[in-house]
Amino acid sequence: MNAPLRVAVLASGGGSNLQALIDYVVDEAAVAIVWVGSNRAVAGALARARSAGIEAMLIEDPSDGARMLTALRAARADLLVLAGYLKLVPPTVVHAFRGRVINVHPALLPAFGGDGMYGRHVHAAVLEHGAKLSGATVHFVDEHYDRGAIIAQWPVHVFENDSVDTLAARVLRVEHQLLPRVITAIAHGTVSLANDGRVIGNVPLPAFEELS
Ligand code: GRF
Repeated sequence: MNAPLRVAVLASGGGSNLQALIDYVVDEAAVAIVWVGSNRAVAGALARARSAGIEAMLIEDPSDGARMLTALRAARADLLVLAGYLKLVPPTVVHAFRGRVINVHPALLPAFGGDGMYGRHVHAAVLEHGAKLSGATVHFVDEHYDRGAIIAQWPVHVFENDSVDTLAARVLRVEHQLLPRVITAIAHGTVSLANDGRVIGNVPLPAFEELS
């Protein structure tokens, strides 16, 4: 039995993606969440980590790459997961963890990504453009952030009567399905980032015939 993939998570908000991951890995021996960091002392993510007995750290200076790298190395993290982390990951960390930082984005990148596209702004833009599908994307993080190589996506319908809140909730539900499956696939080695920046392999996902 190989040692589990040691996963560190950065989150700024409530941490529902973190919680979905905590709940999922209970039955997944190949993944262990070993560290959670947040730039907000009141972030629900830190409370959820503590409740699960996971080391939880307040990131007092999100731009201090050396300090973050020291914490990640002390936790012997293999993979860094951004689950609603609203600060830029310092380049020194991105470089040290090349091909080992992933992010979940609440839209089907490359659409509705990039500067200012986070949280409610994403869903408002989807509705404003009349898109018929939205969904979640998990991608590798490089220096350009939302432009990293896409690993997997999970689509949802956009309905005529959707509000930002109803669309956000539908997308969040599939984020909770997608992110743990991507991490598990990375842990099992069925998906990885090649040196030329392409994603190799795929993430086993259920058929989408019944879109939520
Ligand atoms: C999610 O919508 C995620 O896509 C975005 O930030 C939100 C995090 O939500 N990056 P939570 O803190 O995991 O509930």
